[in-house]
Order: sequence, then structure tokens, then C-alpha cells
Amino acid sequence: MVGYKAKAIEAINPATVPERILNSGHSMPCIGLGTFGSDHITPQKVAETVEDAAMLGYRSFDCASVYGNEKEIGFALSNIMEKGIKREDLWITSKVWNDMHDPEDVIASCKKSLSDLQLDYLDLYLVHWPFPNTHAPGCDVSSRANDSKPYIHENYMKTWRAMEQLVKLGLVRNIGTSNMTIPKMKLLLNDANIIPAVNEMELHPHFQQKELFDFLTAKNIAPIGFCPIGSPGRPERDRTPDDTVPTEDPVIVRIAVAHNIHPALVCIKWAVQRGQIPIPFSTTRRNYFSNLKAITEDPLTDAEMKMISRIDKNCRFIKGQVFLWKEEQDWQDLWDEDGIIAE
Ligand SMILES: NC(=O)c1ccc[n+]([C@@H]2O[C@H](COP(=O)([O-])OP(=O)(O)OC[C@H]3O[C@@H](n4cnc5c(N)ncnc54)[C@H](OP(=O)(O)O)[C@@H]3O)[C@@H](O)[C@H]2O)c1
Repeated sequence: MVGYKAKAIEAINPATVPERILNSGHSMPCIGLGTFGSDHITPQKVAETVEDAAMLGYRSFDCASVYGNEKEIGFALSNIMEKGIKREDLWITSKVWNDMHDPEDVIASCKKSLSDLQLDYLDLYLVHWPFPNTHAPGCDVSSRANDSKPYIHENYMKTWRAMEQLVKLGLVRNIGTSNMTIPKMKLLLNDANIIPAVNEMELHPHFQQKELFDFLTAKNIAPIGFCPIGSPGRPERDRTPDDTVPTEDPVIVRIAVAHNIHPALVCIKWAVQRGQIPIPFSTTRRNYFSNLKAITEDPLTDAEMKMISRIDKNCRFIKGQVFLWKEEQDWQDLWDEDGIIAE
């Protein structure tokens, strides 16, 4: 590991954090804090982190009903606003889970997230996955729900119409997708009344998804990048022997040494400078502070950006095996890699 010098922790002025203007005209901070504690970080710990991160200058928080901690985060948000941060200066994202894709469930799920988060509107609401398939929390990747289905565009559009309805009802300011592919996105763009403002997707130096990234940016859909550091804390069940470690890549380490920073911060700088919105998760104060600070100073050079563009390993960590709908299926079937939506 690089012997780098950590920064002194002092609140960062949120006005120095660049914003991304979305196709709706709203602008969103170019970095947010992830809130998925998986099965090892308690809801309380994540909520404490959200509150402290806001005091250090974070304004954007990536939540989801399935993370099981929106109630605790709601208390944190209430405290944050009591301390003087205005609602309009926060950017709160939530997501509808796969078992709530029926139109009336989408509305009910959004209202539940609003109530848990103690808010009267969300800045961004996402369809978490394009499949209505669920799994028990913490289950093995080979588990399948018996009623799992492939992507059915007609059904997805029913979900999307309810998402559009949420905008009309004033409960949500922006809607978006997550874990979409180009073929699925093309179908949605044909039929949507409201074009997604963002697509949340896995993005890190070893999984750059250039084709999808370019497709989205050409359509003015902002890519939000999850696992921006390569998700070093993901559970064992989400690891395969072929998985790589972006923060150990010699190119990332060399650039980290040149900037005297941790390799994780090279991943964050690269993400923001490339034009995606990273949402790193951290409950370690020095780390979540450094992640925010990193994007306000000492940018990577063009040559360094180019070097990182060449280390893509097409290594997807969140493969989604639990959402497959047939026995003996390969996880690649979820991702339309040959340009065709698997049935
Ligand atoms: N839409 C989706 O389907 C989807 C899927 C997956 C994730 N997400 C979202 O994306 C967020 C981030 O994904 P993720 O948590 O899997 O991956 P990640 O942000 O790449 O990695 C988080 C891990 O990195 C460590 N870390 C963070 N900053 C660091 C730093 N500066 N130096 C060293 N280590 C650092 C954290 O440990 P410490 O706590 O010790 O800092 C934590 O273990 C999630 O929380 C969630 O909000 C969305």
C-alpha cells in the first residue's frame, strides 16, 4: 500500500463541489455518499455517517428501500435540517425494489420511502433493477425466486408510467433507471414520456462500460457510478476468483504515488473527471472526508486520465446472479452483451 499523507479533516464548502446539470434542468452534486451497508454495517452506523458526512459537506445521498436503513437515515436527515442545512440544498435519491414493480406498488413504495426518510419529495427515484425478481437478504448467489422472469418490456413500461406519475404528483423531481443495458434503454427511450435523467450502473477503472457510457452521455442521460472504488467491502458471496482489484492496479497505484493519495482517491477523481457521478460508500470518517475533498483539488492530468482509460478489464463485480429466471443460466444473460435481450 502507498504511504500517503491523509488530509486534516475540516468541513468542505459544498459550493466548491461541482454539479451536473441533468436533462430535466435540475443539477445534482457530482459525488454522493452510498448508503448500502450490506449485511455488515448496521442501519444506525450508516445513519450516523450520513449525518456526519453532511456536516463535512456532502449533500447527495444514494438510498434505497432494499438497503433496510431508510428509517434511520430519515432521523439523520431530520437532524441535518435541524442543524440548518436546507432541504433544497440536499439531493436525496431512493429506489423502488424489484418486488414493487406493479404500478400501485411503485406509488406505495415511493410514499413509504418518503415517510421513512421524513421527506415530502425525493430529488431522484430509480427503478433499482429492470427485473421484478427478488431474493432473500444475504442469500447465496445460486438462490432463485420461483416466479423469476426475464425482462418484459411491456411490464417495465407499466412500472415506468407509475414513475412518471410520481413526477406529476410532485413526489419526485427526477426519475431514472439502474442496471440497464443499451437494448433495454433503447426500448424505454422509444416509449417514455419522461426520459430517464440518470442510469445508475457499476463503474470503476476495471469496469468502464464505455459503450453504455457513451450511449447514455450522447442521449444526455447522466451515468451514476456505483462501486466506484471496486467495492472492497462486498461480501464473500459477491466475489468470484476472476475478480480484479482496481485499487491494486499498478497504473492506479503509480498515479496515487504521484499525487501522494490513497489509490481509492484516484478512482474517485477519475470518475468525476470522466463525467460520471460516483457514489462511494464509506463509514470510516477519514475515508468519506477524503473522497469528497479529492474532487475539490489536485485533478488528474490528461495523460493520467488516458492511462486509466487503458486499464479497463471488463470486470463486473455485481453480476446479479440472483435475478436469473432459469436454471443453468449464465449471469451474462442479464446484461444483453450480444445486443439482444435474453428471454
Ligand atoms: N443501483 C445499484 O444496483 C447499486 C449496486 C451496488 C451499490 N450501489 C450503491 O453504490 C454505493 C457504493 O457501492 P459499494 O459500497 O459497493 O462500493 P464502493 O463505494 O466502491 O466501496 C466501498 C468500500 O470502499 C471503502 N472505501 C471507501 N472510501 C475509501 C477510501 N477513501 N480509502 C479506502 N477505502 C475506502 C469502504 O470502506 P470504509 O467504510 O472503511 O471507508 C467500503 O468498504 C452503495 O453504497 C450503494 O449506495 C447501487
